[in-house]
Amino acid sequence: MTDTYVASIDQGTTSSRCIIFDQHGAIVAVDQREHRQIFPKPGWVEHDATEIWSKVQGVVAGALAGAGLRADELSAVGITNQRETTVLWDRATGAPVHNAVVWQDTRTSALCTELGGEDGQDRFRDRTGLPLASYFAGPKVAWLLENVPGLRQRAVNGEIAFGTIDSWLIWNLTGGTDGGAHVTDVTNASRTMLMNLESLEWDQSVLDAMGIPAAVLPEIKSSSEVYGTAVGVLAGVPVASALGDQQAAVFGQTCYRVGEAKNTYGTGSFLLLNTGNRPVPSKNGLLTTMGYRLGNEAPVYCLEGSIAITGALVQWFRDQLGIIGDASEIEPLAASVEDNGGAYIVPAFSGLFAPYWRSDARGVVTGLTRYVTKAHLARAVLEATSWQTREVVDAMYQDSGVEITTLKVDGGMTANGLLMQHQADVLGVPVIRPVVSETTCLGAAYAAGLATGVWSSLDELRAHWKRDAEWTPRMGAEERDREFANWHKAVERSFGWHQ
Ligand code: G3P
Repeated sequence: MTDTYVASIDQGTTSSRCIIFDQHGAIVAVDQREHRQIFPKPGWVEHDATEIWSKVQGVVAGALAGAGLRADELSAVGITNQRETTVLWDRATGAPVHNAVVWQDTRTSALCTELGGEDGQDRFRDRTGLPLASYFAGPKVAWLLENVPGLRQRAVNGEIAFGTIDSWLIWNLTGGTDGGAHVTDVTNASRTMLMNLESLEWDQSVLDAMGIPAAVLPEIKSSSEVYGTAVGVLAGVPVASALGDQQAAVFGQTCYRVGEAKNTYGTGSFLLLNTGNRPVPSKNGLLTTMGYRLGNEAPVYCLEGSIAITGALVQWFRDQLGIIGDASEIEPLAASVEDNGGAYIVPAFSGLFAPYWRSDARGVVTGLTRYVTKAHLARAVLEATSWQTREVVDAMYQDSGVEITTLKVDGGMTANGLLMQHQADVLGVPVIRPVVSETTCLGAAYAAGLATGVWSSLDELRAHWKRDAEWTPRMGAEERDREFANWHKAVERSFGWHQ
């Protein structure tokens, strides 16, 4: 059998990657490049979308060179991306009209409060599955239309295109000003706060409330179909999937059955539970979001617990406090003591996301005594990730009645065995890491390969999934409950610092 290859582009918050997979789902080549983080004011985070497009072309060329392949030897390319980050560009010139406003950016906090009005944070939740929060794309579009001079009129005239990063890349990959496809997929659209979760179309009532003209919007497609044929660095290759990065990880972890869940540990952590073909509303601070949709098949929905800061707390411990020189040093430092010495760190650096959605929260360290050393604090840093995950898992159970019996994990922090053990301990269920931990790219490749006949079924993909490591719970229930109560006390102290 001749080898078949699928490329995957993962455009993330800090870097862009291209991975080429073979037909067994094994990695053939990887290239990765970082892009600039732009912080114009406290709480504002921007990216240069033109720089991102150029880095993406660079990593595609790099991965092809690494694999020793030409573009015409690829069967398909799939796209996965940081979600919610918002780009508006001029359809005639292809130039962005402003830097991309990143998902972490909090400039729309006041606008979100205003939009909530008397109905509050949940004004659009029944239609979109989301609480009003600066995290989502819709309010970012509204902010840009209001604050970039002349932009609203140009948008109404049909001169401006809006897209999350998937749309921006697909439009450029398929020709840009020369007939590029202006599309998005259901998973990315579900993070705009503008898509109706039942109809899977843009919701006119939300567009009206936010003052967003329909003329700027991309067409909503499934997550797995050919949107167009690439030109340039991938000339001739079908662009055949798009999924937000967390949904791509669900797909790459083969969470295809109701009740299967994964947690990806990156800058933040995002735990998604497959809830099947109907959206499950959340009453406990989770998001109702799309999981994936394959062509014309029934859509799959998820409940999501979004945690803004997990890996970023380790970076803060390294860069801002200087206690470690390299992220990998945190594990031996934390392992040099038996426990956290009574210290807890709540990393509410830009408020708290799930399950609280409190923009007034700020980070706190509690339980300090003269006994506490940097090693105890290192433990508290790691434990903040597992406790935040525990809170999300509890909310999942309350919302869906589904008890998670094992947790599939991926992402950079899963290399930390101490953290993974603590995660299993505080959840009381086994935590399992697969051999291919690049599940985000793998998921986008799978969806693209399904659309183009490289793979024929979900069962075939499931057969690729192999366990690499497993951590089983060891902590007693009494200790777990006591520690969890302490964590909650620390969380309460993080509220009310910023209005
Ligand atoms: O919702 C934000 C998420 O998609 C960002 O993921 O991995 O780029 O930080 P990442």
